[in-house]
Amino acid sequence: MRVLGIETSCDETAASVVGPAGVLSDVVHSQAVHAEFGGVVPELAARAHVEKIGVVVRAALERAGGQRPDAVAATAGPGLIGAVLVGFSAAKALAAGWGVPFIAVNHLEGHLLSPLLDDPAPCFPFLSLVVSGGHTALYAAHELGRYELLGETVDDAAGEAFDKVARMLDLGYPGGPLVDRLAATGNPDEVAFPRPRPGRLDFSFSGLKTAVRAHLLSAQPASDADVCASFQAAVVDCLCRRVSEAAALTGLRRVALAGGVAANGLLRQRIHTLGLEAFVPPRSRCTDNGAMIAHAGRLHLLAGRSSDLDCGVRPAWQVGA
Ligand code: KG4
Ligand code: ZN
Repeated sequence: MRVLGIETSCDETAASVVGPAGVLSDVVHSQAVHAEFGGVVPELAARAHVEKIGVVVRAALERAGGQRPDAVAATAGPGLIGAVLVGFSAAKALAAGWGVPFIAVNHLEGHLLSPLLDDPAPCFPFLSLVVSGGHTALYAAHELGRYELLGETVDDAAGEAFDKVARMLDLGYPGGPLVDRLAATGNPDEVAFPRPRPGRLDFSFSGLKTAVRAHLLSAQPASDADVCASFQAAVVDCLCRRVSEAAALTGLRRVALAGGVAANGLLRQRIHTLGLEAFVPPRSRCTDNGAMIAHAGRLHLLAGRSSDLDCGVRPAWQVGA
């Protein structure tokens, strides 16, 4: 069964066809319009999706061989509502026109399940660290559709912290890859930034961001590269410590990374040093893409689930709800 997946929840217009043999096409258009504002402007994102959705979907279908898919999946939330509506409506219209099933997909579940597209893929149950621009959460993924939230951020998401630090340093947007690149040339031990430790297995990055700002305003701040390296080391320490604690608590020995921050070089190295079996998707599968939506939709369809054509978007949809 071939599924077309459409993703427009933030600033990527993405479409992909996934079949039994895996990803047949994967087309991502990243919107450049937000760079001058230092962050995503929701209204501009929605308009840019409207402009690109047609060519992106057509390219994904053509690269997959041009056949009509057997179903269409789309992100229904969480995300920027105006942006989500573009891909969601397009997907419904295509499903209606072709007379094939439509599947509404949770964006975070798409991220969470994306490591299953790789070879080797983690078997259930596994720990899943979903770290993106809008979310930071640690789950015990027991089976398809059953995800236990072990911890989440109590304030900023990890990606948001990267983006804010990049803005403080005037590096540009999106900040994560730019901080990552500059950090590679800096000393991670130069500045001792805090490693906040809220309750449960939760995360907190807003104090760390404030500490970076205070350091930059101090009399003798370290170089930008050292600040980036020290900040990145603090974030990765916080993430990895929670993964180790979750493994000890649950007894789960497999961990999978997902979400844009999973493209971070240091996190991708460190996750392999925890004594667990780590599954790290290729970078292009960490940031927003259509393949993760097509794949999640396909798994649900194979499990006998699809959505009504008159269902609505779910801007604050929780994973597993
Ligand atoms: O999953 P994603 O593409 O979109 C959301 O669902 O939010 O994640 C985007 C986030 C941004 O905050 C971006 O700065 C961050 O992922 N990111 C990174 C890296 N690449 C992307 N953060 C750290 N290091 C990277 N290499
Ligand atoms: Zn995402």
